[in-house]
Amino acid sequence: MDQILKGEVALVTGSGRGLGHAVVSRLAEWGAHVAVHDISQEAPAEFGEAKNLDEVAARLTRFGVRTVGVTGDIGNPEAIVELVKRTEAALGPISILANVAGGDIAAKGGKPNPNENLFVAWEDVQAIFNRNLFGTMLCCRAVVPGMLERKRGAVINIGSGDAHTGHVNSGAYAVAKAAIVHYTRTLANQCREHNVRVNAVSPGATVTARFKATRTVDPKFLDESTPLLRFGKPEEVADAIAFLASPLSAHISGQVIRVDGGLQSWPG
Ligand SMILES: NC(=O)c1ccc[n+]([C@@H]2O[C@H](COP(=O)([O-])OP(=O)(O)OC[C@H]3O[C@@H](n4cnc5c(N)ncnc54)[C@H](O)[C@@H]3O)[C@@H](O)[C@H]2O)c1
Repeated sequence: MDQILKGEVALVTGSGRGLGHAVVSRLAEWGAHVAVHDISQEAPAEFGEAKNLDEVAARLTRFGVRTVGVTGDIGNPEAIVELVKRTEAALGPISILANVAGGDIAAKGGKPNPNENLFVAWEDVQAIFNRNLFGTMLCCRAVVPGMLERKRGAVINIGSGDAHTGHVNSGAYAVAKAAIVHYTRTLANQCREHNVRVNAVSPGATVTARFKATRTVDPKFLDESTPLLRFGKPEEVADAIAFLASPLSAHISGQVIRVDGGLQSWPG
């Protein structure tokens, strides 16, 4: 796939670490100039993945592309407009937007407790919606109008396996992710006539540094000899997103690809 994205400009939210970092690395490897985004300079250090955001952006220049580090809370509309401006001033008009930032995180950090559907704190529900659904919508509102004018672009939103099942636990997160998947479909329909594609990727459990740090990981699900029965790797999610960002998926829009080893095999 060497250089299939040559000359493209990608903004990947939440790419200082974790899945987002795997995505921004793959897009840079495939030739795109990339904006590495996170909520703060320090976010990549939280689970020991890098010293700071600028270090992550600097490392990616090894692919011979231009890079910039941009910060901002995706729950804050003004911050998003500002970080999009900074990206485009440094790299040019954005042609690929991957909305990866998110997570099942309470208003004061950590997982909500309780985290079911009726008694989860309302401020936690709001924080989860801000960080996932509203952040994704706000980033699209800041970037996609320019794509429509230029008549080209690809948007990839991140759902989750939770978006497609009726879990009791992490209920608000599941609802926000389900809404992201459906927002993807409605936006795809709106953008069709303007040659802008919008798709979603729903990862299953994927081993990132945060994932390892916040739970006990059963080694059975890391066993490489059963590739479809193990947890996913960030690079496997990144490959699906890079495919949806590239001309390899030129006739695909409004779809969701699950990257979960085939755990879910039903429509919707
Ligand atoms: N790892 C998994 O098992 C898994 C499974 C399904 C979906 N996901 C989704 O994949 C995405 C990445 O998850 P991850 O596992 O890499 O976790 P992670 O915590 O390592 O990465 C999330 C990134 O988003 C950033 N972020 C969070 N809230 C933000 C905000 N308000 N403004 C700006 N940046 C913000 C974080 O700082 C971090 O860089 C999330 O949307 C998550 O919901 C992950």
